[in-house]
Amino acid sequence: MANLDFRFDDITEKFQAEELERIRAFGRSKTLPDLVSLEIGTNRGRFLSEVAQQFPDRYFLGAEWTALAKNARSRLKRDGVENADVLAADANNLLPILIDDGQLRELFLLFPDPWWKMKHRKRRVIQPEFLDLIAQKMPSGGNIWIRTDVGTFADDMRETLAAHPEFEPLDVFDYPLEHFPRSTRERHVIRGGIPIHTIYYKRR
Ligand SMILES: C[S@@+](CC[C@H](N)C(=O)[O-])C[C@H]1O[C@@H](n2cnc3c(N)ncnc32)[C@H](O)[C@@H]1O
Repeated sequence: MANLDFRFDDITEKFQAEELERIRAFGRSKTLPDLVSLEIGTNRGRFLSEVAQQFPDRYFLGAEWTALAKNARSRLKRDGVENADVLAADANNLLPILIDDGQLRELFLLFPDPWWKMKHRKRRVIQPEFLDLIAQKMPSGGNIWIRTDVGTFADDMRETLAAHPEFEPLDVFDYPLEHFPRSTRERHVIRGGIPIHTIYYKRR
């Protein structure tokens, strides 16, 4: 059940009023299943559409905070995908409203933006506070699945995850890389022969 009454602080509510209303409207219009898979950074929706087709028994929600969410929505429609939706929203805003505690089956974060500049670092998705939120929303055994082609960024994310008491690393070889479809960025990286770093964690 969506928590439509969830309130952020006054500043967030004021400056992100439209986005928060969009999330709440989605929550009013749809009851999500007991378990939800979330992709952060859906972009034009290739991965979301393909993974939803690959796992028709799961429900996938995509968060894409740019206008590309519209392209992703069109793609889902074009592909006839009914077990996925995409929202034009920051995942940090969507999670507290739409996802109940224990409802988040898995989180996909594929080729996230590294936000190199120090002053932009707070825009990185994997932050201690974000992991607190994920730990709250995920049941024991839930998975975080991250891929990036930026080695130092992978190290930073691993460090942040390793410092969190509620998550433990899993051996990537336990989880075949071919298990999921390739995202658009992943195809590009593979074509360029660039190494890919896979980070795979489990909620304790
Ligand atoms: C480098 S692109 C990767 C796109 C895609 N995952 C892929 O692998 O091809 C990162 C995407 O994440 C989106 N994004 C970054 N932070 C986000 C957040 N907090 N919530 C929702 N979308 C986010 C960006 O707008 C962008 O579309």
